[in-house]
This record gives sequence, structure tokens and C-alpha cells, in this order.
Amino acid sequence: MSALLEVRGLRAWYGASQVLHGVDLRVGEGEIVALAGRNGSGRSTFAKALMSMVRAQGERRFAGVNLAELRTFEIARLGLGYVAEQRDVFPTLSVEENLRLGLGSRSRRGGLSLEDVRALFPVLAERRTVRAGALSGGEQQMLALARALMGGPQMLIVDEPTEGLSAQMAARVGDCLASLRERGVAVLLIEQRLTLAPGLADRVAVMGHGRIVFDGSLDSLAQNEDIVREWLGIG
Ligand SMILES: Nc1ncnc2c1ncn2[C@@H]1O[C@H](COP(=O)(O)OP(=O)(O)O)[C@@H](O)[C@H]1O
Ligand SMILES: [Mg+2]
Repeated sequence: MSALLEVRGLRAWYGASQVLHGVDLRVGEGEIVALAGRNGSGRSTFAKALMSMVRAQGERRFAGVNLAELRTFEIARLGLGYVAEQRDVFPTLSVEENLRLGLGSRSRRGGLSLEDVRALFPVLAERRTVRAGALSGGEQQMLALARALMGGPQMLIVDEPTEGLSAQMAARVGDCLASLRERGVAVLLIEQRLTLAPGLADRVAVMGHGRIVFDGSLDSLAQNEDIVREWLGIG
């Protein structure tokens, strides 16, 4: 069976410096896969390589389509949503104006309407006239997620969504991601510390020095002390 996202031998570079050295990863339809690893292991570069934002070589297919030939906006329209680590909200625009920009990358599936967003993220409805730059980190993460969901993605890549958030805000972001499961949206959840993955992810892959060094269930990772110690640096 072919996966929704299928990556084989993916390599990527910044200038002459190679960061990904042959990454293999599959994400099935509606599946939630966590991608863990230390800082600098190459997780964000992997996301950028999928979105054609860095120079890359190797096979990457989404819904059977070869991403290598496509530009970033075309990949988004295909249904692969991306929320970057730095969240990329437009600080001087209002919450509502930021959300309307999400309509620009709408895929054929159609996405959340402004009404859906208000129901799913009540805090954004309350703050809709506020400048995005004045939101808390957690609210900005919600806004970035909401904007991506308005594009109607079949799969969403979220890079470190709980970084810098309080435990309470992190849990709310987790609830939002969990609600995607009901909508059948697949998720690649990039995390360092596996904050949300337990209870959310179907599988976890661990990246080390630009390669996948583990791919399996959270239970089997927990039993694999060597991997945890060497590549996650905890325990
Ligand atoms: N824009 C860039 N230019 C040059 N090197 C970069 C750039 N972004 C990241 N790197 C390097 O690529 C490697 C992987 O980084 P990154 O993909 O951000 O890792 P992670 O997201 O797992 O923390 C690191 O050595 C980092 O210093
Ligand atoms: Mg990163």
C-alpha cells in the first residue's frame, strides 16, 4: 500500500554544507507521526526540504505526486500544510487579516471557514481585531495552526508547536492537533522533547545527524534505552 507521504533517500544542503544524508519516512493517511531529535539534528530542514524551501535531492511523494518538481505554494495547494518553527504570523496585521491570508493557499479539498475557526479556536474569535504581534506565544501558535487549516490540508507538518508555551497552552495546542485526527488530517509533529507525542502520535521517528535512527511505536522507543540516551539525550 502506498503511503500519503513517502520519502526515500532525501538529502538536503545549505550551500555546500549537507544536512540531510538520506532520510526515509512514510506517513499514512490520517496518521499522526512524531519526529523527534536533538536540536540541530535536521528536523526543520526535513520539513523545509518537503516544502521545496531548501536545495534537496531524493524521492518525496505526496498523494502520489512528486514534490521535487513543485514550488512551495503548489505543494501547499496540493494539501500539504506547514506551520514553521517561527510561526510566521504577520505581526502588524490583525488576527482576522492573518486568517484571511490562509484562504489563499486553499487546496481542492477546501478547508476550515472563518466560522469553523471561530468555533475551534474561540480565543482567536475574541481577539480577532488585535494585531497578531500583540498575541501571546500560545495564541500565535493557534493562529498559525488555524491559518494552515483554512487551506484544507490533507496533512499538516507542525514544527515545534509547543516551544516556549506554558504547559496549559501546550495542552490546548495538543487538543487542536487531536481534533485533526477526527477530520482525517495526517500530522507530522516535530518535537524535541516528545511533549505532545505520547497520547497523540501513532508512531515516532527519531532523527540523528540527518538520518532516521529509529522508527516505531512510542512503547518500543521507551524500551530502547540506547536510542533514547544517544539520540534524545534524556533518561
Ligand atoms: N539557514 C541555514 N543555513 C545554514 N545552516 C543551517 C541553516 N538552518 C539550519 N542549519 C544547520 O543545519 C543543521 C540542522 O538544523 P535544523 O534542521 O534546524 O535542525 P533541528 O530542526 O532538528 O533543530 C544544523 O547544523 C544547523 O546549524
Ligand atoms: Mg528545528
